[in-house]
Amino acid sequence: MQKTGDFVKDLGKSTIPLYFHNNDIVLYRGDVLSQHTFMEEFIDLIVTSPPYNVDIQYNSNKDDLSYEEYLNFTQAWLINCFSWTKNQGRLLLNIPLDKNKGGQKSVGADIIKIAQDVGWKYHSTIIWNEGNISRRTAWGSWLSASSPYVIAPVELIVILYKNEWKKTGGTRRSDISKEDFMTWTNGVWTFAGESKKRIGHPAPFPIQLPHRAIKLFSFVRDVVFDPFCGSGTTLIAAGKNNRIGIGLEIDSKYCELAKNRILNEIYTLEINDV
Ligand SMILES: C[S@@+](CC[C@H](N)C(=O)[O-])C[C@H]1O[C@@H](n2cnc3c(N)ncnc32)[C@H](O)[C@@H]1O
Repeated sequence: MQKTGDFVKDLGKSTIPLYFHNNDIVLYRGDVLSQHTFMEEFIDLIVTSPPYNVDIQYNSNKDDLSYEEYLNFTQAWLINCFSWTKNQGRLLLNIPLDKNKGGQKSVGADIIKIAQDVGWKYHSTIIWNEGNISRRTAWGSWLSASSPYVIAPVELIVILYKNEWKKTGGTRRSDISKEDFMTWTNGVWTFAGESKKRIGHPAPFPIQLPHRAIKLFSFVRDVVFDPFCGSGTTLIAAGKNNRIGIGLEIDSKYCELAKNRILNEIYTLEINDV
């Protein structure tokens, strides 16, 4: 018999109060930088997109740290998530390839290096082809080799794991179709970004991203965690796919948005993904 309900509230032995609980979905309002938010290893799969530090106007938190401060922030949250993840747990990390505004930076490469330094093991990287060329604002030097800019309309989804890549724990039940398995193991994923306006959050990712990650990298009933839960997209994908979804989000406005989205979309949303 499938277990549902109250046991999910005890997962991770959280030290902070619940914001919201609905069947297999739990949301905490909290800070991923607080090491003692969870006291146990409980995560099978993390699917997340941290702030990109590109001066996005989030409701309460700043997104314009110096690059050094941003890398320190990255290191701190990666350490905490590592300590909350099970031995065979995985991290699907959606980050930029690089940064062009305010000085060129190899953000993707720098974050992968930090992740490995704190203990995460590298598996591979998916290129998410968003096809968003509207971000182009500067050519550098137009039609001149003097100082042209190259901008790739892609993001990374880096695949990391804690200790062992081969999963032997959990239900060992997979629910991915042959067609999806064959398509999604090709490491270039092409789908459009999500509309900020439609969701009401400044940087949501589309449901296809956590949906694919969950189907491909977790078993049915695994615990899926998003430490930067935002509008709750990962939790919706978890709920729709019979996984347990645990989210952490620092901002009360986004917690409320995630709660409402979960209540409205978890039983109704159709995920059209090929
Ligand atoms: C890129 S957004 C994630 C969006 C999410 N994937 C979605 O689909 O809505 C990053 C989120 O992290 C939250 N955040 C920033 N700093 C945080 C922290 N220290 N702890 C927890 N959440 C944080 C922000 O409020 C924002 O909602």
